[in-house]
Amino acid sequence: MGALVLACGLARIGRTQNFTPRTLSPFAAQKARTLLRERLPCLGCHQLDGEGGRLGPDLAASSPAPAAFVYAMIRDPQRMRPGSAMPKTPMSPETLELVANYLVARRGSPAGDVEIPRVRDSVPRDGHMLYLTFCAGCHGSAGRGDGPNAKFLPVRPAVHTDARTMSQRSDDMLFDAIAAGGYVLGRSNRMPGFGATLTSAEIRGLVRYIRELCRCAGLAWAR
Ligand code: HEC
Ligand code: HEC
Repeated sequence: MGALVLACGLARIGRTQNFTPRTLSPFAAQKARTLLRERLPCLGCHQLDGEGGRLGPDLAASSPAPAAFVYAMIRDPQRMRPGSAMPKTPMSPETLELVANYLVARRGSPAGDVEIPRVRDSVPRDGHMLYLTFCAGCHGSAGRGDGPNAKFLPVRPAVHTDARTMSQRSDDMLFDAIAAGGYVLGRSNRMPGFGATLTSAEIRGLVRYIRELCRCAGLAWAR
């Protein structure tokens, strides 16, 4: 009984994220900029110094949100903003700390903790719903590679309705691109990876949805 009451109490209070910023050397700041531009998927959706997508806010825009919010948002966006289109990008603790410090300095974020919401939405989501939430901004709601964000990208998002190209891809290749993102596969880093945000079943649902869009099957040898 006592344990139950305690558990409910904890459930209401939730956890707090704190983050103490440090000043970066010019070398470290340059490294953070390079990571953001060339390696991480952030500029697929965010602008930084006039470059990048427009699905999310400008990364350097000054904001009253505390430093700990910036850190927590990069660490686990779906936890901070359930249902957000921003996927979690796995990175080492050092990279997370570096990028957060760089953005906190650019934004002039004040000190202060944030509360981490406890709720995770666990609604089953089918391929079509997931596509509209996470993919349509770049790939277009009908999969034609013409989402509102496409024009801000250096590489055109794949055209999922294109049967000629999509039939050259096995289902595993599509799965890997969605799970790992472009950078790991030697493609554009502006294509984010969703492996840390969606379940394998959800990614398979997206692969099936792309097959509906192209009305095509994968490579014969891989079927
Ligand atoms: C697929 C698009 C997408 C990608 C990729 C992405 N974000 Fe976001 N991000 C968003 C959206 C949309 C928001 C607005 C928050 C929401 O959805 O409620 C956001 C919000 C944020 C915020 C909070 C900004 C504020 O002022 O509220 C930060 C900080 C942030 N993103 C940093 C990053 C970083 C760093 C990366 C790369 C590791 C990244 N984002 C990758 C879409 C994206
Ligand atoms: C921020 C923009 C952006 C978002 C969001 C995005 N993509 Fe992409 N995607 C791209 C770009 C750009 C490419 C092309 C990369 C290249 O060719 O170098 C791409 C490529 C791909 C490919 C590889 C296709 C091929 O030719 O093999 C697949 C599959 C894919 N995206 C699926 C998805 C799915 C599914 C989602 C949503 C869960 C999604 N993408 C979200 C920008 C995006």
